[in-house]
Amino acid sequence: MDQSQIRIGGICGSLRTGSYNLMLLRAAADLMPDHVIYEELPIRDLPLYSPDLDGEATPQAAREFRARVKAMDGLLFAVPEYNYSLTGALKNALDWASRPVSESGLNGKPVAIMGASQGAFGTVRAQLHFRHVAVFTNMHLINKPEVLVRDPQAKFSADGRLTDEETRRLLAQLVQEFASWTRVLAAPRATLTSR
Ligand SMILES: Cc1cc2nc3c(=O)[nH]c(=O)nc-3n(C[C@H](O)[C@H](O)[C@H](O)COP(=O)(O)O)c2cc1C
Repeated sequence: MDQSQIRIGGICGSLRTGSYNLMLLRAAADLMPDHVIYEELPIRDLPLYSPDLDGEATPQAAREFRARVKAMDGLLFAVPEYNYSLTGALKNALDWASRPVSESGLNGKPVAIMGASQGAFGTVRAQLHFRHVAVFTNMHLINKPEVLVRDPQAKFSADGRLTDEETRRLLAQLVQEFASWTRVLAAPRATLTSR
């Protein structure tokens, strides 16, 4: 990997087959600039977090997820909205990634969020809750543009392609801003680790 490249991990908070948030994440991945090495980080196999499972007893799926989160320069989250908040699956993944605190893969990480929902407000409440979690876990979120996709059924084709040009334009802007943000914040870390 050359110095100008950055690694971005994509996390989808929905486990649903045919998830619009997964379609959104994949559409964003397709718009990443050339210097981004992108990987999807699935959360489906994570057990429910309990401190009893942490430490020596940490299951392999959680160990691997934590290691992959840590290896990323930045994280892009697709944030569905369940009952005005994050899905349990996404909160669980954030809880795993945040521990142990001294080794949290979220600490200081450049992060972007976006979301699609079939409700009227396109995940705005879930995204706000995500921002609460980001304060305590010390993720560095970009604020704009806000990508709040409502009526996703009219914006993606049956095979999952983003067909709405306005959403694509906004997503491209988010991805560009986020890649730049990640590069700026990742630079000091790269300098330190190369010494
Ligand atoms: C348990 C549950 C709660 C939901 N609550 C909300 C909600 O508060 N706001 C909203 O906009 N949509 C809500 N929805 C609808 C979701 O936005 C919709 O199911 C969406 O497709 C989920 O994202 P996905 O397609 O990525 O799985 C809810 C769906 C479920 C199953």
